[in-house]
Amino acid sequence: MSTPDAVIVRAPGKLNLSLGVGPRQPDGYHRLATVFQAVSVYEEVVATPAEGLGVSVEGVDAGRVPVDDTNLAWRAARLLADEVGLEPLVHLRVRKSVPVAGGMAGGSADGAAALLACDALWGAGLSRDRLLELAAELGADVPFILLGHTAVGTRRGDLLSPALSRGRYHWALATRRTGLSTPRVFERFDELADPGLADPEPDRDLLTALRAADLDAVGRCLGNDLQAAAMELAPELGRTVEAAARAGALGVVVTGSGPTVAALARSRRHSMELAAAMRAAGQADDTLTAVGPVAGARVL
Ligand code: C5P
Repeated sequence: MSTPDAVIVRAPGKLNLSLGVGPRQPDGYHRLATVFQAVSVYEEVVATPAEGLGVSVEGVDAGRVPVDDTNLAWRAARLLADEVGLEPLVHLRVRKSVPVAGGMAGGSADGAAALLACDALWGAGLSRDRLLELAAELGADVPFILLGHTAVGTRRGDLLSPALSRGRYHWALATRRTGLSTPRVFERFDELADPGLADPEPDRDLLTALRAADLDAVGRCLGNDLQAAAMELAPELGRTVEAAARAGALGVVVTGSGPTVAALARSRRHSMELAAAMRAAGQADDTLTAVGPVAGARVL
């Protein structure tokens, strides 16, 4: 079989509609119970054969993304090459749209996209299950980006079960160029947490509301146990959250470890109004609109 000249993969960002966080485990990670939704903000990775392994990044805030062996696309190529016993002779061109260090899994989307791209470029043909295992080695959010749509994530957020969701959800997203470090937000969470903190459970009311396409109930159920920690580290997020609430958002939540603020709208038009309201509050560097759920990472 001849190898393709180039493989293009598109991978979505995610929102955590709810994020329950438990105590830190001996492995350093926290037990999570989260409901993920993949949304229509995409990373694209173009893989081409090369003399060695290389990554280049273009698009939104590309200068803030490392292009060395800490880059998740780079690590994905290495991991897949080791798995199939090849040298990673590939250049990965990453085109970014998901905010950098924003809590929307942009780096994880690059990792997921690179796994699929290298699998196709090298004709490896790994099973979906094996790709999901490799994805979990790259980072807790990477498996969900492969799966897409709506899913409940437990353990580190990497043990997934797909969830039924009806309807389309329109979002306004407010991003900050000063990202928040995920480990730092979890550390602050530990400092604030109740010593008797129990393991979290997936939010049943949210899952019921998603099955019923009950927008108002989904809005009421949005929540994030990391939000207090993220807002302490970035107090200006409060004004963005208030602006969206005043503009009639059905719910507003900081996603993942932040600092992206997601506001649920009644319609596409309303999502644009919410975006304008959050921009006018003067604390967001940029706003986007998006719709979810969408499919996971796909070869184009
Ligand atoms: O898995 P990932 O590399 O995205 O996680 C980054 C960091 O976030 C971890 O090293 C850990 O400090 C923190 N984290 C955590 N519990 C999780 C997920 C991440 O404490 N479930």
